[in-house]
Formats: sequence, structure tokens, C-alpha cells
Amino acid sequence: MTIKVVLGVSGGIAAYKACELLRRFTESGHDVTVVPTASALQFVGAPTWSALSGKPVATDVWTDVHAVPHVHIGQQAHVVVVAPATADLLARAAHGLADDLLTNTLLTARCPVVLAPAMHTEMWEHPATQANVATLRERGVVVIEPAVGRLTGADTGKGRLPEPAEIFELVRGLLDRGADAAQDLAGRKVVVSAGGTREYLDPVRFLGNRSSGLQGYALARAAASRGAHVTLVSANVTLPDPAGVNVVRVETTAQLREAVVAATATADAVVMAAAPADFRPTGVSEAKIKKADDGSAPAIELTQNPDILAEISHDRARDDAVIVGFAAETGDATGTVLDLGRAKLARKGCDLLVVNDVSGGAVFGSADNEAVVLAADGATVDVPRGSKTVLAHVIWDEVARRFVG
Ligand code: CTP
Repeated sequence: MTIKVVLGVSGGIAAYKACELLRRFTESGHDVTVVPTASALQFVGAPTWSALSGKPVATDVWTDVHAVPHVHIGQQAHVVVVAPATADLLARAAHGLADDLLTNTLLTARCPVVLAPAMHTEMWEHPATQANVATLRERGVVVIEPAVGRLTGADTGKGRLPEPAEIFELVRGLLDRGADAAQDLAGRKVVVSAGGTREYLDPVRFLGNRSSGLQGYALARAAASRGAHVTLVSANVTLPDPAGVNVVRVETTAQLREAVVAATATADAVVMAAAPADFRPTGVSEAKIKKADDGSAPAIELTQNPDILAEISHDRARDDAVIVGFAAETGDATGTVLDLGRAKLARKGCDLLVVNDVSGGAVFGSADNEAVVLAADGATVDVPRGSKTVLAHVIWDEVARRFVG
């Protein structure tokens, strides 16, 4: 079945980025109808939308009236995506105005609706805009949090359109989960850590690990697509920022700990997918360490790092928060992978532990994962080999079922 996508574009400078989003949809075989507002055409003209989508475009309800486009475009859509959504578009959508083809389409659509706002920080933070966003979210509309970064001029702040590739990923995730994809994490604050920390020996050298951050980023994306407010504490990951996710960048385990502990204070759930270094050099040389003439190598003394997962689990900021850890196990003479997983779950004090059996080779950098989710309440969920996105959704399913109230 060909998926029918309506791409709404409202009048902001980020309208040009919607061209790339459109391309991604058409190149993936989707049937895209672009519905720009009249002001969007001030930024990118109708011929561009028409050429890229292979269809005529209209902004008002008076074109091709016999085909009743103001009703049919919305009714027939499998998903409506508006990128960028301006403050004005959010206001008109929240109040049910129907003064052009796009707002008519929003009123007739019964499929998932995704709005990707982009505007100046002041406009985004204005109580009027925030009230409109809250109203839309209450109605089940997915409103993606804008990214932080460079705005129209030299100024920076919150209000940037997330990268088109990431908006595309979010929409694809929604479509994969079906038309009833629940916004079951709406209103929840979640924290995900991802990547591997670096422990510096001197200003240019560090001890690190091979964690790619893929599983943590998949978790952040999945939570955002289910409506959560996501803070992603990212250690040395080169992947693009997921749409709608607040990314906090760190390098060392001490920085990771500080960021996770701070974000955990108000979080409903925390998933520690990062690989913090277990040890750090006892002292960091302020100057670059030089080679000795006699060919000798310096000895590196190591100190154990704090265990962040154990700390936030034993010392809970909120009793009702659901805390999830990861464990890579091979099994040994003292027990099987699951025995060691159960023992680690108890030792760390978290609610869920996602156990990877790494005896057959590492999962680092792979798009796939296979795991067993162990719960402190005794439950065990087997997740067969599949994408890290599938595992991410299983983890959020298990987290969501443990939320009280
Ligand atoms: N973790 C942490 N802080 C650390 C180390 C690990 O929060 N300093 C978290 C990881 O994010 C992951 C889990 O703890 O969620 C992994 O547990 P860990 O004890 O590091 O596993 P292993 O390295 O496999 O430990 P061990 O060698 O003791 O089995």
C-alpha cells in the first residue's frame, strides 16, 4: 500500500528545509501532497513543491473545487506533517480555524498529525504559543520540540527546525507503529544516556571505549515519537541530534554523572544506555606527556569511577521513577548470562536490566540487538534479534507498564 503523506509548509525561513523532507518521503516511495500556506510561498515557490512532489499545489480552498480538496486531502492522508510550523500556524490549528487549505486539511485529518515548529525563541516561549502547543498535544497531535541552535540571523537559541532526516525518522517510526501509535509517554520526562565516556591522561590523550551510541539514540527517538520530553545525555557520539530531543553533550564520566543526576531529579524514567568508563587515570597531566629518551613508557595509575546507575537507583530522587540499566555479559564459571544479569540487577538496585549476551561477538556499532529484559519484580522479556529501534520500543513498553499514576 502506498502511504499518503500530506506535507504542510507554513511561512518561515526553514521552509527550504522542507524540500529535503519532501525528497526523503518521495524517495522512500510515499505519495506526497504538499500544502503550503500562502506565506510559505514567499520563501519557496509553488514550482519547487510541484516539481519535487510531482503534483500541483494549492494554498487556498478555491482551486479544483470540484475535487473538494479541503476535505479529501485530509481524509485520505495516512499522516500529516507540518514542517516548519510557525507560531501562527500553531495558533490557527489549536483554535480550529479553517482559513486556508492547510488548516482545513488539519481539521479533516483523522490520521497521526506531526507538527515541527520553527520560530524565534521568544515566540516559542511566549505563553500564547506554549498554551497552543499544550492544547494540540492534549488532542494527540505530535508537536516536536524545536532544536537549539542558529536561528535566522546570527542569533542562536531554541526554535530551530530539527534536521529533516530526523523529522523523517520520527514520522517513519510513527508509521511503522501503525495508525494508533499511542502517545503513551506524553507528559512524561525521561532521561537517556548514550555513548562512551573518555577519561583524559593529558590534554590530547584519553582512555575510551567503542560504544557507538546507536542504542541510546534509538531509545531517545522512540521515546520522543511516543510523546515523552526527552533529555539525551550524549557522550562522544557522532550521530545527528534526534528530532524533538534535548541533547546534553558530555565527555567524561564525571560530566556524565553530573548531567544524569541533574536531569534525574524530575524524571519519570532514566535509561542508562551509555558505557561510562569504569576507571579513570588517577591524575590528569596538564601538559602533554612526552616520550622518555630511554624508551620507557609511563605507568598509568587508575581510580575506579562512581557507578552512576547504582547511585541513582539506591539514592532515588523520586521513589516512583523507573530506572533501567544495561549489561553486557558472557557468562562464566560462576553463572550463566542470566544468572549474572539477575545478580547485577540486584546489586545495582535498578528496576529493569537489559542484558546482552556478548559471548558470540560484540554489538558495538551494529544496527541490530538481541536482549533479555530482566525486571526487579521477577519478569523476564525475551527480545529476539531485531533492530535497536524495536528493542527501544520494548524497553519503553516495559517502562510504561511500570508507571504508577
Ligand atoms: N554504569 C554506570 N556507571 C558506571 C559504569 C556503568 O552507570 N561507572 C551503567 C551503564 O550505563 C549500564 C550498566 O551500568 O547501564 C552496566 O553495568 P556495569 O557494571 O558497567 O557492567 P559491566 O561493565 O559489564 O560490569 P562488570 O564488569 O562489573 O560486570
